[in-house]
Amino acid sequence: DNAVYSSSEITDFKTKSEHFFPLAWYKKMLEEHPVYYHAGTDTWNVFKYEDVKRVLTDYALFSSVRQRTLVSAGSGTEEGTFPERLNIHDSDPPEHRKSRSLLSAAFTPRSLQAWEPRIEQVVNDLISEMEDKTEIDIVKDFTTPLPIIIMAELLGVPHKDKLLFKKWVDILFMPFHKENVEEVNQQKGKAAKEFFSYLHPFVVEKRTQLSDDIISDLIQAEFEGDKLTDEDIVKVTMFILGAGIETTSHLLANSFYSLLYDDPKLYDELRSNINLVPNFVEEMLRYRFQISKMDRTVKEDNNVLGVDLKKGDVVVAWMSAANMDKDVFDDPFTLNIHRKNNNRHQSFSNGPHICLGAPLARMEANKAFKIFIETFSHIEPVPGFDLEKNLQLAAAGQTLSSLPLKVRR
Ligand code: HEM
Repeated sequence: DNAVYSSSEITDFKTKSEHFFPLAWYKKMLEEHPVYYHAGTDTWNVFKYEDVKRVLTDYALFSSVRQRTLVSAGSGTEEGTFPERLNIHDSDPPEHRKSRSLLSAAFTPRSLQAWEPRIEQVVNDLISEMEDKTEIDIVKDFTTPLPIIIMAELLGVPHKDKLLFKKWVDILFMPFHKENVEEVNQQKGKAAKEFFSYLHPFVVEKRTQLSDDIISDLIQAEFEGDKLTDEDIVKVTMFILGAGIETTSHLLANSFYSLLYDDPKLYDELRSNINLVPNFVEEMLRYRFQISKMDRTVKEDNNVLGVDLKKGDVVVAWMSAANMDKDVFDDPFTLNIHRKNNNRHQSFSNGPHICLGAPLARMEANKAFKIFIETFSHIEPVPGFDLEKNLQLAAAGQTLSSLPLKVRR
């Protein structure tokens, strides 16, 4: 197993709120320590846009084959171990091409088009369930369930089981601290086993009755004569859930936070020009998605970042900080949904590992905001909301556990 370290050892934030929106720290690092060695974790850290891009794209020098890592899931059990030949996350081209091709079968533009009405349906259903309430908790009622139900729907799993998924995903991708690695690993192992015994019979049954869903696509996927076994598919599914659920929820919840607290005029503007929603979503990925970072391992001694890197060194690319680099984004610390180039953000990474689910995540967010904004004429904060008390540590960083707001239809 890979050794695990935590990025919170590098940042040392004093409050949850500071961790949730670490712009001051990013600014300091960008200006004063753009290439920063952190002794406690023995990592190099890069913040500037071009350095981050270099580390993510130059796989000949910066490898995804790791001995130590920031993220880990399902460690220690057979069920939670990814088959070698499907190792999409921990491999470099040319090997990476194979696992990427097998998984891509489920994320074609054709699938995306077919999913659109189903995604709209899930959004509409959740909004109907709000009925004529005047106060909602957008995290509990909308941003948390939305990506889970959509993934269950797209996988072809019965809706009644959707919350089981949430429970497993929360455990499988729980963050580590130095002190609790063993305990967390045990819980992850147990969740991986439960998930496996739940999903495996499904996949077996699907094989006899293919339909229009991700599991059926994976069953039919083929690359260079290789096909996926039932066990492979269960494991791949677990990975897809881990990659796609918390990330999307985080984007949605933070965007609502931004509408309420960053710029209260924005909601009206979007409502009067709904075509601005896609650019709003891109700006949210740049400005309010503060958890994007990824590590690589130095493959050959080099100096391309201006310091002597040795084979085996770990480099962390801070994508969310790169999204605040003034060399690429004018006035980067200001929220501006009219920004022309905000889709150059690197929240979805860059290079060969660029997020496979990005088109789906964008579609989910765009549908969610378009339909929500068209339904509700007005939203406003609930007085007395205490951010610090409503944050909790999740896989990638501080995440809203609750966000109450008042709504008018
Ligand atoms: C990879 C971010 C949603 C599936 C990645 C990586 C990032 C990322 C940063 C790159 C890792 C690397 O460079 O090594 C995000 C964000 C999302 C999101 C910000 C939402 C806001 C999704 C969704 C899915 C998904 C909805 C699928 C349902 C994947 C997969 C990979 C990946 C399969 C692995 C690609 C590879 O290593 O070749 N994502 N993701 N992601 N993501 Fe996403």
